[in-house]
Amino acid sequence: MKEISTSALIELSLDLAQSLTNKDRFDRLLTTIRKAISCDSVAILSFDENSQLLSPIALQGLSRDTLGRRFHVEDHPRLKLICAADKAVRFASDCELPDPYDGLLIDREGDLPVHACMGLPLLFDDKLIGVLTLDSFTPNVFNDIPPRTLAVISAMAAANLNAALTIELLENRAMHSEQVVAELSLQPAQVQMQQMIGKSSAMTKLKQEIALVAPSDFTILIYGETGVGKELVANDLHIQSRRQKATIVHVNCAALPESLIESELFGHVKGAFTGADKNRAGKFSIADGGTLFLDEIGELPLVAQSKLLRVLQNNEIQAVGQDKITKVDVRVIAATNRDLALEVAEGRFRADLYHRLSVYPITVPPLRDRLDDITLLAGFFVEKIKRQLGIRQISMSDAFISHLTEYNWPGNVRELEHFINRAALKSMARQPNHALVKLSITDCESLKITKSTAVKLMMDEDDTKQQNSEQLNFKTVTENFQRQLISRILHQEQGKWSAAAKRLQMDRANLNRLAKRLGIKVTKIIVE
Ligand SMILES: Nc1ncnc2c1ncn2[C@@H]1O[C@H](COP(=O)(O)OP(=O)(O)OP(=O)(O)O)[C@@H](O)[C@H]1O
Ligand SMILES: [Mg+2]
Repeated sequence: MKEISTSALIELSLDLAQSLTNKDRFDRLLTTIRKAISCDSVAILSFDENSQLLSPIALQGLSRDTLGRRFHVEDHPRLKLICAADKAVRFASDCELPDPYDGLLIDREGDLPVHACMGLPLLFDDKLIGVLTLDSFTPNVFNDIPPRTLAVISAMAAANLNAALTIELLENRAMHSEQVVAELSLQPAQVQMQQMIGKSSAMTKLKQEIALVAPSDFTILIYGETGVGKELVANDLHIQSRRQKATIVHVNCAALPESLIESELFGHVKGAFTGADKNRAGKFSIADGGTLFLDEIGELPLVAQSKLLRVLQNNEIQAVGQDKITKVDVRVIAATNRDLALEVAEGRFRADLYHRLSVYPITVPPLRDRLDDITLLAGFFVEKIKRQLGIRQISMSDAFISHLTEYNWPGNVRELEHFINRAALKSMARQPNHALVKLSITDCESLKITKSTAVKLMMDEDDTKQQNSEQLNFKTVTENFQRQLISRILHQEQGKWSAAAKRLQMDRANLNRLAKRLGIKVTKIIVE
């Protein structure tokens, strides 16, 4: 066989320079190779060092489904020899090693007959990045190819494969950055930067816990009633972690329709289901290198729970409709206002997922347990609304502040913020043309708490008889537990007896009777 001609090389270089897509570039390369070396099939495969897999990138003369096949080097002795070599490897016609393309050549049905076979390792910077394989039904056809022709072909194939892989890597990175930017723009700006206000002992303890556990990669489960600041805690954990430069991606598990959860979390490929008109990355891959915040995890349906568990165990995701499994490096932080242990006991939440998630549980205390913080928070929110309303200064009367600390705040910090905002509006209307506005008790009284009815749980002190430890016996311990459980559920259900009875799976009248005996009363305060 004669050497590859200089004119063929120049023609190929020009062709490759004009190719717009990888497919086009490889097609031209393979056509030139077939002109220089007579063969029945030719293929370029890329090599992944981690998985030791060879993936066909471009081919001619082999069935199309070959493009979807992955060849594990260990399973294919011919490919293994090519990968280990530093120059062309020829296999004699009578070589007994199995051929990876047996049954895949287009012009041939059934077993491959005696044929010639050759492989070239594709090296870039002395690193194996792929292989080029050639097969021919004419025995010994590859024996007398000039070494220079082989050297030129393997250098060209390696350079093109390297360019294609680099472009793919850059495209993936650019796509990932685009998705991260899109994700960040969906998150409210104030959440990204907001500080956690509070100096009470409960809040100090919480901040210490955050500082302790944030730098680890532990999965965290944040508990707390509605509006206590769970999202802020999740954000703080991320900011204080080694992942702070990457993004924190927020998923509200309660807002996802059941049929789309899997695709939302793990992504899907085009055509995976009706409506999947293009490939879409899931939240896990967008959060790769960063943190995934799974809010309201208690609302996740059981089917999605088992899929999530697998990801947490293996750090691997599989997009809907795709065979390929991808490794991800994501720290998961979850939050819930449900009693997950109770959810597990009642079969609504998987026990194994619960244990996986609660590697380090954190409880955000309700506002009524950190009364010291109310004044600071009120100051923080007054300052915020002042800017929004364009008022020079807003102050608060002592009576106004003490009114705030008397209230039970079932809606916690969020309710306090809304309350302050409404009071500021009322006060501004009351004192038009005033640059300095003072919030007074009048502004509270003129407010109507519409969203959540204020609920105060009253414990009958005589009846509660919180026993000291020496007096504890089975009956009192059980009653204390019942009292705490019922109070907590009543708080969560905004003082609604029927909802609480349903959660506790009790008859409503029985719950009322038991609560009465335990000294629990619900007082609803509606401030007109
Ligand atoms: N310590 C705090 N300092 C300042 N603002 C706070 C604090 N805690 C909560 N907030 C504010 O209160 C509001 C509610 O907080 P967040 O959304 O984090 O609560 P949550 O516990 O996630 O509530 P839900 O269970 O309803 O989702 C937000 O506007 C948040 O910025
Ligand atoms: Mg929240």
